[in-house]
This record gives sequence, structure tokens and C-alpha cells, in this order.
Amino acid sequence: MAARGSLPASCSSALLIIVMACALLLSSSSSSSSSSSSTSSSSAAIMTSSSQPTMLALRKELMLADWDPTAAPDCCSWRGVTCGDGSVVEGLDLPRRNLRGNISLVSALSSLKRLDLSSNSFRGPIPASLGGALPSLEFLDLSMNRFQGPIPPSLGDLRSLKSLNLSNNFLSGEMPDELAKLERLQELHISGNNLTGSVPDWVGNLTHLRVFSAYENSLSGVIPKNLGSISQLEVLNLHSNQLRGEIPESIFASGRLQILILTLNGLNGSIPESIGKCKFLSNLRIGNNRLIGPVPPSIGNVGGSLTYFEADNNHLRGEIVPEFAQCSNLTLLNLASNGFTGTLPEKLGDLKNLQELIVSSNNLSGEFPKSILKCRSLSKLDLSGNKFSGSLPETLCNMSRLQFLLLDHNFLSGEIPPGIGSCGRLLELQMGSNFLSGSIPPEIGRIRNLQITLNLSFNHLRGPLPRELGKLDKLVSLDVSNNQISGEIPAELKGMMSLIEVDFSNNQLRGQIPAFSPFQKSPPSSFAGNKELCGDPLNSNCGADTNYGADHHKVSYKIILAVVGSGLAVFAAVSVVVGLFMLREKQESDAKATMVAGVVVVAPQIVAGNVFVDSLKQAVDFDSIVKETLRDSNKISNGTFSSNYKAVMPSGLLLSVKKLKSVDRTVVHYQNKMIRELERFSNLSHANLMRPIGYVIYEDVALLLHRHMSNGTLAQLLHEKAATAEYEPDWPRRLSIAVGVAEGLAFLHHIAIIHLDISSGNIFLDSNFSALIGEIEISKLIDPSKGTASISAVAGSFGYIPPEYAYTMQVTVPGNVYSFGVVLLEILTSRLPADEGFGEGIDLVKWVHSASVRGETPEQIMDARLSTVSFAWRTQMLAVLKVALLCTDRAPAKRPKMKKVVEMLLEVKGNQ
Ligand SMILES: *[C@@H]1O[C@H](CO)[C@@H](O)[C@H](O)[C@H]1NC(C)=O
Ligand SMILES: *[C@@H]1O[C@H](CO)[C@@H](O)[C@H](O)[C@H]1NC(C)=O
Ligand SMILES: *[C@@H]1O[C@H](CO)[C@@H](O)[C@H](O)[C@H]1NC(C)=O
Ligand SMILES: *[C@@H]1O[C@H](CO)[C@@H](O)[C@H](O)[C@H]1NC(C)=O
Ligand SMILES: *[C@@H]1O[C@H](CO)[C@@H](O)[C@H](O)[C@H]1NC(C)=O
Ligand SMILES: *[C@@H]1O[C@H](CO)[C@@H](O)[C@H](O)[C@H]1NC(C)=O
Ligand SMILES: *[C@@H]1O[C@H](CO)[C@@H](O)[C@H](O)[C@H]1NC(C)=O
Ligand SMILES: *[C@@H]1O[C@H](CO)[C@@H](O)[C@H](O)[C@H]1NC(C)=O
Repeated sequence: MAARGSLPASCSSALLIIVMACALLLSSSSSSSSSSSSTSSSSAAIMTSSSQPTMLALRKELMLADWDPTAAPDCCSWRGVTCGDGSVVEGLDLPRRNLRGNISLVSALSSLKRLDLSSNSFRGPIPASLGGALPSLEFLDLSMNRFQGPIPPSLGDLRSLKSLNLSNNFLSGEMPDELAKLERLQELHISGNNLTGSVPDWVGNLTHLRVFSAYENSLSGVIPKNLGSISQLEVLNLHSNQLRGEIPESIFASGRLQILILTLNGLNGSIPESIGKCKFLSNLRIGNNRLIGPVPPSIGNVGGSLTYFEADNNHLRGEIVPEFAQCSNLTLLNLASNGFTGTLPEKLGDLKNLQELIVSSNNLSGEFPKSILKCRSLSKLDLSGNKFSGSLPETLCNMSRLQFLLLDHNFLSGEIPPGIGSCGRLLELQMGSNFLSGSIPPEIGRIRNLQITLNLSFNHLRGPLPRELGKLDKLVSLDVSNNQISGEIPAELKGMMSLIEVDFSNNQLRGQIPAFSPFQKSPPSSFAGNKELCGDPLNSNCGADTNYGADHHKVSYKIILAVVGSGLAVFAAVSVVVGLFMLREKQESDAKATMVAGVVVVAPQIVAGNVFVDSLKQAVDFDSIVKETLRDSNKISNGTFSSNYKAVMPSGLLLSVKKLKSVDRTVVHYQNKMIRELERFSNLSHANLMRPIGYVIYEDVALLLHRHMSNGTLAQLLHEKAATAEYEPDWPRRLSIAVGVAEGLAFLHHIAIIHLDISSGNIFLDSNFSALIGEIEISKLIDPSKGTASISAVAGSFGYIPPEYAYTMQVTVPGNVYSFGVVLLEILTSRLPADEGFGEGIDLVKWVHSASVRGETPEQIMDARLSTVSFAWRTQMLAVLKVALLCTDRAPAKRPKMKKVVEMLLEVKGNQ
């Protein structure tokens, strides 16, 4: 048999000896000799075991270097091996070991009860021979590999099987009918494959089944009615398939069902009345189907167990039933994009645990539902796209936890109550397309957390823009278009330092547009329709005295960087969040972390963890990692999507740990997805990518482990080390770094990964000053499983954000090229991407591109400490400058592909 994959060099020489020794030890698992020998160290008995050749071969085939008979003579004590009476091998637990090879050999271990080969790199078909050969097998986990082809019918012969997990592979074809013979099955996981055909009727005959999870396949046909006859069924998850027909009435019959997830199918028919029989139902997700009819009032009978009811994007009608109020533990109610009519029942105000109420895009009417303000836990109220009328209550913000208030596209009238200023935690305020009148209350300026959007467009607002808006220094998008707002745009608005998108169009504004880079970077249409408005970016000149430089209102770009960073972190999280727990207040968790800092820390329960690199497994201690990251003193930096910590292991190993708070506790499969992605990234083979070496998950926190990079980041090299007195001109090193980053990024683009945050702070330098691009896994981790949520936008770090981002709100391949161009400019100039010294509203890119207009030569831009060292260095720098200018072209289509950039840079490097 062929040995595949790479073997750690340190082990290869010892392999043969180990294999021989192993063979001797393993012989004890033979059935013929097991009765006569019970001590596994008895060599006489060992010699005769019939398992000997099997384990020997398996050891070699799977390259299990740590099965080390010289250190542990008894095979039964090897990692992952469990033996029963007479040293018979009964369990093999080898998950997450990066294994590959042919697993057919396992079928010779005839006493096996447990086989876990999950999260490895096995590929090819699942060997049919496993089926007939393992009569005692109770647990089989082959999930998270790359197995292909059909599910072998012979698996039906594993008569003792209680748990079968084949999820997250590339399996295709139909579920073979032979599996009907697995009558003892309690858990069946086949999600995340490419299975076709229908859910077979025989599944309903698996009377012991507790969990059936087949989501993310291409299953069609109807849900078999007899699934309801499985009296033990607790979890049924079939989302993201092509199922048709009705939700069978009988599914709720047994009354044991806790989780029913049927999102993203083509189901029609109505929600069965029998749902009320499900006293344990906690999680119902049936959104994105074609369901019709009302929500049956019997939903109230489910009572306190129901926490999550999601039925958006269907054709449901009728009134929203007041019986929901009987579900006292309800935390999320999402009925968006249906045909619900009538008013919002007052009784819903009794739901003290409700965190999200989403009823957007229905036909609901009546006055603004004041009673809902009694829900003290509410963090998201989405009433948009209905026919709610009347005025907004002054007490609107008595719900102190509100983060999202979405009231746009209704018939709301009257003034915006000044009480809006008490919504201190609000991140997004949408009030557009109503009939609101009066002026914009200055109190809005008190909502200091507002970051995602303030949209008051398409109303009847008049009066001036309050200067207090300038206090919203985290706000990214402001839209007050299509009102009757008058007066000048107050200069104080320059305080909105995070602004990316503005729209003042179609009002009665006048005077000169203040000189403020987010304004001038906007398209003219953002200011159009204001007859008396003038100045850049409008074509209308304000007259002779157009001196933008006169107003020296300097903005600290450092602050901007920080603010945009934190703003986008929330933004990103928000776009991605599916469950409720992720929506917990950032401040709260921060506060928690601070509280434990310095005090004796009780380590939280670790849910999952792994180290992908075998040579580091011993040296990494998960509990220590968690404890180290609870200490603020270990925090190295605050990134756009995460915080970074250093962690010293008891073994002395120094790790860099990235803390993400985006694991959904309620839907475990996102966690699995994430782990899978991480493992994929850990397997990427490119020298210029910083690959994760492991992870730890606890509560709703994910920690990503990376090697500590001894020479810090490129940003530190360029902006800290290069600023010291001992600085030695290092152009060749910088050029090598540029080439390395370009190659890494070109590779990412080649495998269709767009980096979300290219910046010099994310480029790490190892002990040889080789460049490694960090944060590569982020793009995948915040990308939820297909179809369940949409990621709207994440932009990266300030100064690196491409200009088109303001309109597209999407990071693209050319956008990455732009950000890389900014890095090149940093390397050439030793200047920060955004620096006060460039002048108001001018970043590094603008500064460089406008050099010739200012009458400056390239030499005046480039770092003279480098360009004056030698003619050769200067020539190379000029050539790289050309590449940088191409990369940072305003027009995305004109920027070169990274592959081309690599070629150009290599050519520069070659011309020494
Ligand atoms: C695995 O090994 C078995 C017998 O040892 C052989 O029949 C089978 O073809 C092999 N499978 C692959 C994918 O190489
Ligand atoms: C596969 O499913 C079993 C339950 O049947 C579960 O215990 C196991 O954790 C799953 N494997 C993975 C990798 O999630
Ligand atoms: C899934 O199966 C269908 C039909 O067999 C095939 O057309 C499609 O390419 C497969 N998709 C993947 C991702 O393998
Ligand atoms: C399910 O079990 C019943 C009763 O044992 C049997 O009549 C029926 O044929 C079985 N259905 C399938 C699809 O195997
Ligand atoms: C549901 O869809 C099936 C076909 O998939 C169709 O036969 C049936 O009439 C539909 N039922 C309703 C209520 O629309
Ligand atoms: C509501 O949830 C809490 C906490 O999960 C639980 O203890 C309580 O029993 C639930 N209430 C009902 C009525 O089930
Ligand atoms: C990270 O941000 C927090 C507040 O957001 C601040 O207190 C802390 O000092 C920052 N840490 C670093 C290392 O920048
Ligand atoms: C870079 O890392 C190496 C290895 O850790 C170290 O010896 C060297 O001093 C570092 N250089 C700088 C400039 O920090």
C-alpha cells in the first residue's frame, strides 16, 4: 500500500523499528490468544495476536508517528487506542490529526466498537469493506474529511451502530436503503455533503433516532410523514436542501422535538396546528420557504420552552397571534417578509426576555406599538416596511438595551421625539421613508454609539442640520436626503470622523460644502438637488474665495483608525450574526474581562480545542491560553475583527492568540464549519501566509492560535523601528517583504479568497524577516454557512480602504490590490497611510498621486534615507513606485491583478 503525505522528518528513521515493535505488542488483540493472556505486557501472548499485521500496517499507512512502542510498549496505551478484555482493540479515536491514507485496513479490527477519524484529510470513497467487517461498531465518525462518492450500502451491515456521522464530506448520490437495517441508530449526521434523492421513508422506522441532521445537501422530495412516528426524535435539521410539500402534522406528534430547522427549502402548506403539542420545542426555524396560512394560536401551548421562532420569507398571513405572549422565554421572534396584517398584539409587551422582534416587510398597521417598549431585553426592533402610523412616543428609548431601531418605510408622522437621545446603545437608526416632520432633534448627537447608519431620508423634515450631529464620531453612514432641510452644512459635522457614506441630496441646503474628506470623496449626487449649495464635489463654484485650506480643523487620524476599527468590528459582527448570543453587548463582555483581570481566574469550560501541528501539541495548554487571554496586560493589539494577546505556555512556548467573539452557541454547526475552515487554512501551503496552528472555543468566544512572530509587524518595522536613531537603511529587506506579501496575496486570490484587512499591521515578520500575511482566516470565519445570513460589508483599516468601497460596501479583488498598493507606498515612503501631515482630507495615496501637481519629484516622496544610498536602490524604488501607483488607481478596473504585480516586483528585484 502506498504511504501518502509527508512524514515528520524526526520520526522517519525510527519508523521501521517502531513498526516492528508495535507489531509484537499488538498481537495481544487476537481472539485466539486473548483468553489465555490478560496482561498486555506479556510478550508470549502478544506474539500470537492476529491483529498484529493490521496495526502494523495501519501504523505505517496512516503515518502515526506518535504510536511509539519504544516509549510505550503496550499498544493499548497508545494515544487514541482503547482496548477491551484481553487487549483487544475496541476503540480508535484519531480525530484532528491531519491523517490521510487508506483506511480499509481498519476493517480487520473486528472487535472495534468505536471509530473516530473525523477532521482529517482522508479522501476517496468510504471503503465498502468497513460494513461487513465490524459487527460490534457502535460509533462511527468520518465527518470533516474529503470522502467522495456514494455512501456504501454495506454500512447497513453495521448492525450495532448507534451513531453515524458522515457530515461535511463530498459524498454524493442517494441515501442507500440498506441503512434501513441500522435499527439501533440514535444519531445520524449526513449534513454538508452533496447528497441527492429524497429523505427515505425508512428513516421513520429508526425508532431510536434522537438526532437526524441532513442539512446542506441537495435532497429533494417531501419530508416523510412517518418521521413523526419516531418517538425519540429531538433534533431534526434539514435546512438548505430542496425539499417540497408540507411540514407533516405528525412531526410534532411525539412531543419530544426540541429543535426543528427547515430553513431554505421549498416547503409549502401551513404550519400544523399540532405544533402546540411540542412542549419541549425550543428552536423553530422555518424561514425561506413558501409556507402559507396563519401561525396557529396553539403556538402558545408550547409555552416557556420556546426561545427562537424564525419564519421569515414565507407567505404566511393573518394576524400575529397574541398567544406568542405565553412563550415567556421567547428571545427571538422573526416574522419578516410575510403577509401578516393587523396590529402588533399589545400582549407581546409581556415578553420580558425578547431580544429581537423582527416583523419587517409585512402589512402590519395601527399606531406605533407602544406596549412593545415594555420588553426590557429588546436589542433589535425592526418594524420597517409596514403601515405603522401615528407618532413616535417620547419614551421610545426607555428600552435601554436597544441597538437596532428600524422604523423605515412606514406611515409614521409627527416629530422625532427628543427622547431619542436616550437610546444610548443604538448602533443603527433607520427612520427613512415616513412622514416625519419638524426638525431633527439635536439630542440625536447624544447617541454616541451610533455607528452603522443614521437614515432620516424621504421624510418632511425641515429646519437646519443640528451641529450636534458632529458628535457622532463613530457613524459610518449618514443619509438625510429628500427632506426640506435648510441652512448651511455645519462645519461641526467634521467631527463625524468615521463617515464613509453621506447623502444630503434633495434638500434646501445652501452655502459652501465644508472641506472634509468624506464629503469631497462622495459623488456629486450626494449633494445634488440643493439649489444653493456649492463647492467640491459639486461642480458649482462658490465664487472667488474658495480656500479650503483656510479652515485648519485637523483630525487626528489615529483616532479615526481606532474608531473605524472598532466600528467595523461591530459592523462585521452585526452582519454575520445569526443567533442571539452573538448580539450581546460588546461593552458587557469587555467589562467582564476587565473584572477578572488580575484576580484569581476560574477558567471557563472549554467547548473545543485542537492543535493542528503535531510537533506543538505537547507544548500547548488550552487552559493556560484561556487564562492568559483573560488578562488585559497580555493584550498586544486591537484589530479590526479581533483582539490579539500573547500567551506564554507552561512549556515556555510563546503564542500569539487572536480572540474572536463570533461563535454561535445556539447553532452548533457553525462552530463545526468554523473548525473546518480553520483546518483548511492550517493546511494551506504558502510560505507568506500566517496559518492558524490551532484553536480553543469556550462559551461564545473563539481563540485562534498562531506562532509568535519574533520580528513583529511590518507597521512596526516601518513606523517604529525605522524611526529610531539606530535605523539602518534596509531597502533590499523591504523589497523582499513586498514581494513576499504580493506572492501571498496572489496565492489567496488564486484560491478565490479575498482578504478583508490588508494593512502593514497585518503583515508579520518572522525571525528571518520573511513576510507572512495575517488574518487570512477571518474572511471565512465571518462568512456564515450558505444562505443563513448575509454578510453585508467589512472594509478593513482606515487609509487602506479603496475609494469605491464607499459605494459598493464590498471588499473585492481589486480592492485588495489597492490596499496592497498602500502597503507598497508605506514601504517606499516610511509614512503612515493616514497622517495629519498630509493636510486635511488627504491620505498617503492622495498625497503621492498629487505630487506632480504640487511640483514635487518622486525623490521628494520616497524615504530619502533609502533612495540616496545608491543609484541601484533609487532605480528599484522608482520602479516599485510605478507599481504602487498602478495598484492605487482610483478605477478598480485599471488596477493590475496580483499575479501581474508579483511579476513586476520580481522583475524589479532581478534588476539588481
Ligand atoms: C485501499 O486498500 C484496499 C486493500 O488494501 C484496496 O482494495 C483499495 O483499492 C485501496 N483503496 C484506495 C483508495 O487506494
Ligand atoms: C459526529 O456526530 C457525533 C454524534 O453522532 C458527535 O458526537 C460528534 O462530535 C460528531 N463529530 C464532529 C466532528 O462533530
Ligand atoms: C453535486 O451533485 C450534482 C449532481 O450530482 C452535481 O451536478 C454538482 O456538481 C455536485 N456539486 C458538488 C459541489 O460536488
Ligand atoms: C417500516 O416498518 C414497518 C413495520 O415494521 C414496515 O411495514 C415498513 O415496510 C417499513 N418501512 C420501510 C420503508 O422500510
Ligand atoms: C405544495 O407543492 C406541491 C408540489 O411540490 C403541490 O402539489 C401542492 O399542491 C402544493 N400545496 C400547496 C398548498 O400549495
Ligand atoms: C425559561 O428558561 C429558563 C432558563 O433557561 C428555564 O430555567 C425555565 O424553566 C424556562 N421557563 C419555562 C417556563 O420553561
Ligand atoms: C484596546 O482597546 C481598549 C478599549 O477599546 C483599550 O482600553 C486598550 O488599551 C486597547 N489595547 C491596546 C493594546 O491597544
Ligand atoms: C528579529 O528576530 C530575530 C530572531 O528572534 C532576533 O534575533 C532579531 O534581533 C530580531 N530583529 C529585530 C530588528 O528585532
